[in-house]
Amino acid sequence: MPEQTRHDAWQAGDAYDRYMGRWSRRLAPHFLDRLKPEPGLDWVEVGCGTGALTEAVLARRAPHSIVAVEPSDGFRALAESRLADSHVSFRKGSAEALPADSESCDIAVSALVLNFVPDRAKALAEMRRVVRPGGRVAFYVWDYPGGGVQFMRAFWTAATALDPQAADLKEDKRFPFCTAEGLTGLAETAGLEEVTCEAVTEPTPFRDFDDFWQPFTLGAGPAPGYCASLEPKARERLKEKLRESLPTAPDGTIPMEVRAWAVTGVSH
Ligand SMILES: C[S@@+](CC[C@H](N)C(=O)[O-])C[C@H]1O[C@@H](n2cnc3c(N)ncnc32)[C@H](O)[C@@H]1O
Repeated sequence: MPEQTRHDAWQAGDAYDRYMGRWSRRLAPHFLDRLKPEPGLDWVEVGCGTGALTEAVLARRAPHSIVAVEPSDGFRALAESRLADSHVSFRKGSAEALPADSESCDIAVSALVLNFVPDRAKALAEMRRVVRPGGRVAFYVWDYPGGGVQFMRAFWTAATALDPQAADLKEDKRFPFCTAEGLTGLAETAGLEEVTCEAVTEPTPFRDFDDFWQPFTLGAGPAPGYCASLEPKARERLKEKLRESLPTAPDGTIPMEVRAWAVTGVSH
């Protein structure tokens, strides 16, 4: 496994939810508000994870059907157990070879996934393949280069101060294309038309330092994977470095926010 991806651990759904799912769940409705899809559509979702966006589509957009694709057995099982609904079917599969028929849906979507897919052009081609002519392809990813995930940026700033070699693992270094220009270019090169790219933001208030720190120790996702791989003494040093560097309010809360780029296009 390449050095940079060795901590991309997508197995334990509950650990993922405590780290990232709790925030991606809040972001999904904003994405749908911008997309404004009509009710009764057939959807394909790529990399549904523990079901943050799937749940929002079911709750807010009255879909006719959703095919929710996810390679991780652990994540898919958790999503499936939570979202037992006759409108959604969960399938094991990858973005580069979607287990869905050509022209079988009105809209193909993806939340916080595309940057992790090795062949992004293939993933977008697959999303175009499964939508009917005139259908939409839409996705969002974190604004990593712009420091859009403040809790992740704070983590890596402290981690690389103690361990400069960890710099190669930082998402802003790994995913430099996650800018408005980079993502618009990616979508247009994939043949999408009428491409738009908008910032979507959401507060991520942490109750206290433990609320911030504990999810990093659970190992689900790149930064937690790195954190969990550290020897106990090194992990303790990182914990204390973070404790002294975070912007903590007088009541002990840690006010932060996240920003994603939401991209949409039409496939003819
Ligand atoms: C940051 S999580 C996002 C999960 C969920 N969509 C959300 O918004 O919370 C990244 C997801 O991408 C999935 N993933 C990674 N590589 C993938 C690939 N090649 N094809 C499809 N999904 C992939 C992971 O299994 C994981 O569920």
